[in-house]
Amino acid sequence: MVPAWLSANPRASKSLAFGRDQQFVINPDGIPELLEELKACPAHRETPLQSLPALAKRFGVAEIRVKDESQRFGFGAFKALGGVLGVYSELSSAVGDAYRRSPTFKEVMEGKHREVTGRFVFTTASSGNHGRSVAAGAKLFGNKCVIFLPKFTSDEKEAAIRARGAEVIRVDGDYDTAVAECRNQARAKGWTVISDTSWDGYDSIPRAVMRGYTVLVEEIIRQWRAGPTHVLVQAGVGGLAAAVFGYLWARYEPRPTFVIVEPESADCWFQSNRAGRPAGASGAADTVMGGLACREISPVTWPVLGLGTDWFMTIGEDQVLPARKLYAHPIDGDPAIASGPSGCAGLAGLTRVCTEEAAFKALGLGKASRVLLINSEGNLGEGAV
Ligand SMILES: Cc1ncc(COP(=O)(O)O)c(C=O)c1O
Repeated sequence: MVPAWLSANPRASKSLAFGRDQQFVINPDGIPELLEELKACPAHRETPLQSLPALAKRFGVAEIRVKDESQRFGFGAFKALGGVLGVYSELSSAVGDAYRRSPTFKEVMEGKHREVTGRFVFTTASSGNHGRSVAAGAKLFGNKCVIFLPKFTSDEKEAAIRARGAEVIRVDGDYDTAVAECRNQARAKGWTVISDTSWDGYDSIPRAVMRGYTVLVEEIIRQWRAGPTHVLVQAGVGGLAAAVFGYLWARYEPRPTFVIVEPESADCWFQSNRAGRPAGASGAADTVMGGLACREISPVTWPVLGLGTDWFMTIGEDQVLPARKLYAHPIDGDPAIASGPSGCAGLAGLTRVCTEEAAFKALGLGKASRVLLINSEGNLGEGAV
């Protein structure tokens, strides 16, 4: 019997081709070229794909590889790709509209079309990695940026956003109040909202943000000739998972087995899978995994995640610290990896699966399996483990 924390997707099938609906969400065209262009950015360096052979042996699989995003852009999380590429995409299409030619990343970065790009002010509401990433993107291209923070955001988080040149507005309320205030002011002042999640009538920017994330997947394909048979990715709204699964689905035939990992209290994808359509989380999203603390999915991702994720699973809060420790103090000579509570969630999920036989079998794991995990954030001030 499959445990209650694991749920199969009745809509997913390996024979379903990556079609137009999926391509609308994650367009694989031009990503290798985008990766080449990114090399113009001084802060850009490919992140490592670490191999954990001792852990693979212990778990009874052939390989475990970890894309270590703790080193992305000197920023500490994969999110940097989304903010930078989300901002770039808006500026690039404005220049394209004006001159009928899309500028290169380098041209925009060097301020070649300031007469068009200079008028943009970017904004978002987020106290976490996404706010910092939009601020970093705006700074890179020399644009003004305003980040809205909920009342109880820590001073450290505010300082990290200000350090990237953004103006910070604290609202007298929670995250939802900050989102509402951000949208109101953006509408009134003509600012551009860079959100990592979609809603009715707003999906082109979240798709550009996900396009940014696909850069890390292109790197993985270049770093790993054989590629994975199984991929476990932690989800908040699903942007990261959609980029990883969508891009691999487009590139591999047959595609790997895809698994989404979520906190028990923020299981919006687990519940959406059961309902067969976007549905809210069963809990209050009160989790230490701050980047995954989402009660609603990003609906634009449904054709990729709703139809392509093979399994959905949840993890408990007590599984986070052991996973962070396992990354930080690995067994038998495996490389050490610094992670945060959301970053290590994929490893927490794999540990859960590999220590329960029924789950291990259900996922089709075995001695020939090659597993891919994403360490989506480093240790961003959570303290040593
Ligand atoms: C470190 C980290 N990992 C994973 C995620 C999940 O990404 P998504 O919300 O796109 O599913 C986030 C989102 O903020 C994050 O900050």
